[in-house]
Amino acid sequence: MQAAPTIASAEEASSKARESTLLSPRFYTTDFKAMDRLDMSPVRKEWDAMMAEYEGDNNHDHFQRTPEFAQEVAERFSQVSPEMRKEFMEFLISSLTSEFSGCILYNEIFKNVENPDIKQLMRYMARDESRHASFINQSLKDFGLGIDLGSLKRTKAYTYFKPKYIFYATYLSEKIGYARYITIFRQLEKHPEKRFHPIFKWFERWCNDEFRHGESFAIIMRANPHLLRGGNLLWVRFFLLAVYATMYVRDHTRPMLHHEMGLDSTTYDYTVFRITNEITRQVFPIMLDIDAPAFRAGMSRLFHIQTQMDAAKARGGLLGTVQRGWWAVAGLACFVRLYTLPVLRNELPDDVRVAPAW
Ligand SMILES: [Fe+2]
Ligand SMILES: [Fe+2]
Repeated sequence: MQAAPTIASAEEASSKARESTLLSPRFYTTDFKAMDRLDMSPVRKEWDAMMAEYEGDNNHDHFQRTPEFAQEVAERFSQVSPEMRKEFMEFLISSLTSEFSGCILYNEIFKNVENPDIKQLMRYMARDESRHASFINQSLKDFGLGIDLGSLKRTKAYTYFKPKYIFYATYLSEKIGYARYITIFRQLEKHPEKRFHPIFKWFERWCNDEFRHGESFAIIMRANPHLLRGGNLLWVRFFLLAVYATMYVRDHTRPMLHHEMGLDSTTYDYTVFRITNEITRQVFPIMLDIDAPAFRAGMSRLFHIQTQMDAAKARGGLLGTVQRGWWAVAGLACFVRLYTLPVLRNELPDDVRVAPAW
């Protein structure tokens, strides 16, 4: 079945944001008492320097629209096709949901912990994510698709993650967010004629916030080195693969969006993986071998499986249900095979790990 060429209303946009599928961004909650027990004293100097950066708030004036913004939307965006418009709206909705997911999680931790270090960090990060989410929402509002964030907070399902899973997953999603935003920004800086919407001009300073959020989780993990050793490496590996695979499949469902920017989804994704690998090796002792032919084949198979799942869902009925079940098993088998591929060991000296050079 061909997807509808538009997202017609704010209700439809909100229901997309509320979706709970394997690919859609989720909302999380965690164990606040365990967060209270975190001790930042082994990394006090680094921690205090980072808090001073947050306090300085060098992006406090960044998320304001310029007077030309609306005019640029009117001039440039009116020329894109309806299909492309739909992909861009979906991109905005899923980006907003991710930003708002961070905002809610950090804010909940802020409200529920006593630990002064964690409380302070979460307050700063919630501040940043709230700005990011609101800025995207303004662009959705231009098309009458603004999302009621209060209602989304109340109605979307929450997933419980132990703190260590929050650290792995959030560290990765902040760093991959940085890599995604900077890759798009650099591409459109080189090819301004392909910048079909002004929001991309904001991505450079925006991604610095995401980079800093990721660094905060890196410091927490370095203060708790057991999180980066032994059996926990199986979890690191799991989250690396889950985050990379989700991004790959999701991006490949929006090929026109990348094409419009002069990018190809596969090249874009591997650029983002490469940047993320380079950053995360400063914390994680392992990284995925993204150039291994078996890894690349597995990623494209996951996308193929997803398209078959979508087709079976659209077909409906008993046959559709059976086919969906079949493809779900195939997807799981493919994920397990990817999980068992050899990973690369990072051989960085300790001083590089402690002071990231990125
Ligand atoms: Fe953000
Ligand atoms: Fe962030």
